[in-house]
Amino acid sequence: MKLVYEKSKPGRRASSLPRPELPAPEVPEELRRASPPRLPEISEPELVRHFTALADRTFGIDTGFYPLGSCTMKHNPRVNERVVNLPGFRDLHPLQEEDASQGALELMWRLQEILAEVVGLPAVSLQPAAGSQGELTGLLLMRAYFADRGEGDQRREVVIPDTAHGTNPASVTMAGYELVGVKTDPRGNVDLDDLRGKVGPQTAGLMLTNPSTLGLFDEGIEEITRIFHESGALMYYDGANLNAICGISRPGDFGFDIVHFNLHKTFSQPHGGGGPGGGPIAVRERLEPYLPVPAVVREGDTFRLDYERPKTIGKVRGFCGPFGVFVRSYAYIRSYGPALREMSEVAVLNANYLLARLKDTYEAPFDRLCMHEFVLSGRRLKREHGVTTLDVAKRLMDYGFHPPTIYFPLIVPEALMIEPTETEAKETLDAFADAMLEIAREAAEQPELPKEAPHVRPVKRLDEVRAAKQPVVRYRFEQHEEPHGAGEPRQLEAQKRA
Ligand SMILES: Cc1ncc(COP(=O)(O)O)c(C=O)c1O
Repeated sequence: MKLVYEKSKPGRRASSLPRPELPAPEVPEELRRASPPRLPEISEPELVRHFTALADRTFGIDTGFYPLGSCTMKHNPRVNERVVNLPGFRDLHPLQEEDASQGALELMWRLQEILAEVVGLPAVSLQPAAGSQGELTGLLLMRAYFADRGEGDQRREVVIPDTAHGTNPASVTMAGYELVGVKTDPRGNVDLDDLRGKVGPQTAGLMLTNPSTLGLFDEGIEEITRIFHESGALMYYDGANLNAICGISRPGDFGFDIVHFNLHKTFSQPHGGGGPGGGPIAVRERLEPYLPVPAVVREGDTFRLDYERPKTIGKVRGFCGPFGVFVRSYAYIRSYGPALREMSEVAVLNANYLLARLKDTYEAPFDRLCMHEFVLSGRRLKREHGVTTLDVAKRLMDYGFHPPTIYFPLIVPEALMIEPTETEAKETLDAFADAMLEIAREAAEQPELPKEAPHVRPVKRLDEVRAAKQPVVRYRFEQHEEPHGAGEPRQLEAQKRA
């Protein structure tokens, strides 16, 4: 497909600007352009077609099944958009005085109350803008807490399992802690024997996702909590997988002291490609004094921002955090109401249904009921037919599905991490399972089909690492001839007026 610049023809226009009879403002000589900018010149129908074609090539949760494990790509209810676009929310300036932003403050306060209830911890800060920022904030709270107790120099280590999401070790390092890895046992739980030898007076805390990135609920969670709390360390819960347990169990009840939420996953939000997200944190009473400021507090019937927290770690985000995400999450939770538990139950049911359909063809490394997602291994296809997990993922695109997360968690060879979410119908799950089984059959009978996939997508295999590390997002004008003389007077004049 051509770029819009390549479709440009001199003189074509998609709109005409009014030309008011006003004098052109005097622009100082040194600030004037020497030549007009090379904007694409294109008619309106061509422009509409161009962007429609781009949109048609884009895959999203609104176009198809998107079982990207760990990312919780669930349907985004349209009511959220209605609510977030109410003028009182949409047009509110972040510096609006408190008296005139009571509605927004009340919404934030109510969201805090709900989140506290969902995880069973009393104090919440909505400020962090992503799960990873919630992690960093939580670890900074840990540091502030131990520093205050005079244990800052002693407690230098944070323990994380080998299944952890990549942001966990990154946050630990960014917070200035030393990382201590712990193994996974043959049932997919944290290896308790390995753990016991690694926790002591030098330990500041644990970071754990439960259910883990294997999609398994850790059966030793009570013992894990005992080990950490006996050594005076704190427990951090990575709440990215909260979609599995809402209304069923609460991290606060099984001993965690700090939790982050991924609002954009659990409570819906169009996300991906870097945002927008929300990563609030919830903590026990003893950590509350260190939370970021301002805190949103209620006094009688009014709501206000409280900056009077002498022990606070400070601000981690501009203003109060990503407000639009709060409105959507609040709308989402309120529309579920008491049925929030059903959301998690159906997410778990859907995942187990798919697992049951696929585990005989693709290997399930841990033969257990899964939570909201599960991990398969494609190593048999690789060993027997030379077809890799990457090939399976690419071939799924030909069948019209977004591939699952692949090659993660790192401890499962040829991993496929599948998260269907609660919003998918049985027919969709069946169509996906049928495609996965069909690809396994192709691997045995026509391995070149998956190996050379995708066949019916606009682009074939891309160098994804290079695309991520050296993205070309700029049209290189210097490599393309000017379609017409630079600095053409009529154009320049029009530009000045615009
Ligand atoms: C288990 C887990 N932890 C943390 C994160 C980080 O969350 P975010 O992408 O919002 O920074 C993710 C994101 O996918 C995750 O899956």
